[in-house]
Amino acid sequence: MMPGLENGKILDNRQVAGDWYVMDVAAPATARQCQPGQFLHIRPADNYDPLLRRPLSIYDVLPDSGLISLLYRVVGRGTSLLAKFAADEFINIMGPLGRGWSMPASAENLLLVGGGIGVAPLMYLARVARQRECRVRLLFGASEAAQLSGAARFEKIGVDVKRASMDGSLGYPGRVTDLLNDEIATDYARVYTCGPAPMMALVARWASTSGVWGEVSLEEHMACGVGACLGCVCQLDPFQPGYVKVCKDGPVFNVDQVRWMQQTPAGEVTGSE
Ligand SMILES: Cc1cc2nc3c(=O)[nH]c(=O)nc-3n(C[C@H](O)[C@H](O)[C@H](O)COP(=O)(O)OP(=O)(O)OC[C@H]3O[C@@H](n4cnc5c(N)ncnc54)[C@H](O)[C@@H]3O)c2cc1C
Ligand code: FES
Repeated sequence: MMPGLENGKILDNRQVAGDWYVMDVAAPATARQCQPGQFLHIRPADNYDPLLRRPLSIYDVLPDSGLISLLYRVVGRGTSLLAKFAADEFINIMGPLGRGWSMPASAENLLLVGGGIGVAPLMYLARVARQRECRVRLLFGASEAAQLSGAARFEKIGVDVKRASMDGSLGYPGRVTDLLNDEIATDYARVYTCGPAPMMALVARWASTSGVWGEVSLEEHMACGVGACLGCVCQLDPFQPGYVKVCKDGPVFNVDQVRWMQQTPAGEVTGSE
């Protein structure tokens, strides 16, 4: 099936912290289809320069209002162009794309761990999980307090948020993964995480050593976004044959599918197990 294309009307595109922005788009046809953890492939200008779309996670959706929110960090040309869009302008979106999170059953106990802009695919997951009466705790880590302002959006729907900031300006001073020391993995039916790879590796190990089901959302450079160009292929486990297309087989994978690699002080690359 061809992915949907829609010209979404921008309702708001605001700076929320440093180089972080939230864009609200009215795109009713796309909003109806979105599943938590999927992504949209965005044309960052109203012409073909740059040629390639940019993948952004679906941050939040209000399907009945046809509203989609995106949380993005300006890192290069495409995202700089995105930040220039103003209310009432239109933006071309393709999607929803990819395999999103496996959804919880009703009333489960869930732990979400988001690092930096990696919190983006966790918000809509939290919203749907709360509609299913799940108890949801978010461990949210970022560089500084301003980036943690989005925690309020989670709290508004009844998520219990624990904050960590690397500069110590809000919440626990240090890495978000340190907050796992206060958690008991087996208290949770499911653990979901997105953020920098070393952070996800720690969360994945923490969950799988206790036999707790978990999923991670991976990032890879993308071109087509629909499984046609092989631009996003990667090996989830370098010790096993076979490649996946992150855009189509993911971006969400089970923690047991991924072997996280780490570098020894001598520069040798080893598996994390
Ligand atoms: C499935 C998926 C979901 C994503 N969701 C979000 C999101 O919700 N919010 C958000 O801010 N970002 C997200 N990203 C990353 C985002 O797509 C890139 O930051 C963006 O495409 C960069 O475009 P650019 O033209 O501004 O930067 P470029 O000029 O293309 O690159 C600038 C820098 O960013 C790096 N980069 C570019 N693309 C990627 C990528 N796909 N993954 C990792 N590094 C990249 C480049 O290596 C370079 O260092 C997601 C990526 C994927 C694959
Ligand atoms: S981006 Fe083209 S196959 Fe994934």
